[in-house]
Amino acid sequence: MLKKVGILINGGDAPGLNAVIRAITRTAERNNIECYGFIDGFNGLLKNHYVRLDNQMITSGILHKGGAIIGSSLNANVFNYKVIEDGKEVYKDLSEKCVQNLKEDGIDCLFTLGGDSTQKSARDFSLRGINVIGVPKTIDNDVACTDVTFGFNTAVSVATDALDRLHTTAETHNRIMVLEVMGRYAGWITLESAIAGGADVALLPEIPYDMDKVVEKIQARQKAGKNFSVVVVSEGAFPKGGSISIKDTREGGKGVINIQLGGSGDIVAKELEKRTGLVARNTTLGYMQRGGTPSATDRILSTKYGAKAMELALEGKFNVLTVLKNGKLDYVSLEDVVGNNKEIGAVEGGTEDSNMKVVKLDDDLIKTARDIGICLGD
Ligand code: F6P
Repeated sequence: MLKKVGILINGGDAPGLNAVIRAITRTAERNNIECYGFIDGFNGLLKNHYVRLDNQMITSGILHKGGAIIGSSLNANVFNYKVIEDGKEVYKDLSEKCVQNLKEDGIDCLFTLGGDSTQKSARDFSLRGINVIGVPKTIDNDVACTDVTFGFNTAVSVATDALDRLHTTAETHNRIMVLEVMGRYAGWITLESAIAGGADVALLPEIPYDMDKVVEKIQARQKAGKNFSVVVVSEGAFPKGGSISIKDTREGGKGVINIQLGGSGDIVAKELEKRTGLVARNTTLGYMQRGGTPSATDRILSTKYGAKAMELALEGKFNVLTVLKNGKLDYVSLEDVVGNNKEIGAVEGGTEDSNMKVVKLDDDLIKTARDIGICLGD
C-alpha cells in the first residue's frame, strides 16, 4: 500500500514540468496518497528539504506555467558529488544519505523528472532498493526508448516562431540569417523547426557539415533570384573533420555532462559571409527555448506522463520510465533507457553508460527535409 510519494527534478527546465507535478499530485490525491516535492532536485533530497504538494493550494493554477514550482538541480550527481573538505574539492558518493532520507520520510516511490543522466541516477537508486519511476523531460528529445520527451514541442514552436521572424528580416535586407538552437548532441529541434519554419539549410550534430555544400545551396538560391537564406544550426553541429564548439565547462558532479555548448551559429555565419559575399547574421536562441508557457501539446503529454507514472506506482511497477511508444503511453525498464542495452544508432553522450537518442539518417524527418530541398550540409 502506497502512502507517500516524492517528486524530484534534475537538469535544465523544460516546459511542462508543472503539468507533470500537477498530474502526479492529482492522481495521488484521488487515491489517498500524499505527495511531496524535493526542493531543487537532488540537492533537496540530500538536505531532506521538501514541501507537501497539496492539490488545493500548491499545485492548483500551475498547469500553464513555465519553470518548476519545486526547482531543479543542475549537474548534480549524488553518486559523485562535489564537496569541500579542508578547503579542497573532493567528489563523494552521498547516495546513502539520500536513501536514508527517503526511508526516514517514508517515501514509497520517488518520481524522477529528467533526462538521460537523471534517469541514470534513478536506475542507480533502484539498485539500492528505492522504488523509482522516471518521466522523460528535456527540450532536446534525446532520451532513449521514447518517441518524445515533454518540453520538446514547445522548444520547436519557439524556434519556429524565431525562424518566421528571421525570414522577414532576411528577405527585406537580402541577408543570410542563421539561428543557433539547442539540443546538445541531437538535432531534433533543428530538424523539426527547419521543416516547420521553411529553412533552407539545417545543420545537425548527426551530419558533420561540408561548408561547400551549404555555399552551393545559397548560391543556387541567389541564381534563382532569392538573395536571402535562412539557416538553422544545432549548438552541437560541427564541420567535417572539425570539432564541436564549446563555450565553457560547467561546475558539477562527475559522471554528468559538464560541457556548455555554443558558438556554432557564429562560426557558420562568419564563414558564409566570407564565402557568399552576402551579409550573414547569427541569432542564438538560447534559453528562450526552455522558458515560458508550455504548448498545449506539451501540457497534454506532461499530464499523460504524470498520470501514467502515478498509475504505474499504484500497480507496483517500479524502476521504469514512462514513455510514448508508437504514440501509445507505455513504460520501459530504466536499465533499457540508460544501461548498456544501447539502441541501434544511439551514441555516447558524455555520461558513462548512457544511451542517447539521436536523429538516425533514415528517419522520416531526414527524408522529408531532403525531399523538399533543405540542405543538410552533406
Ligand atoms: O538539455 C537541455 C539544454 O537546454 C540543452 O539544450 C543545452 O545544451 C543545455 O541544456 C544548457 O544547459 P545549462 O542550463 O547548464 O546552460
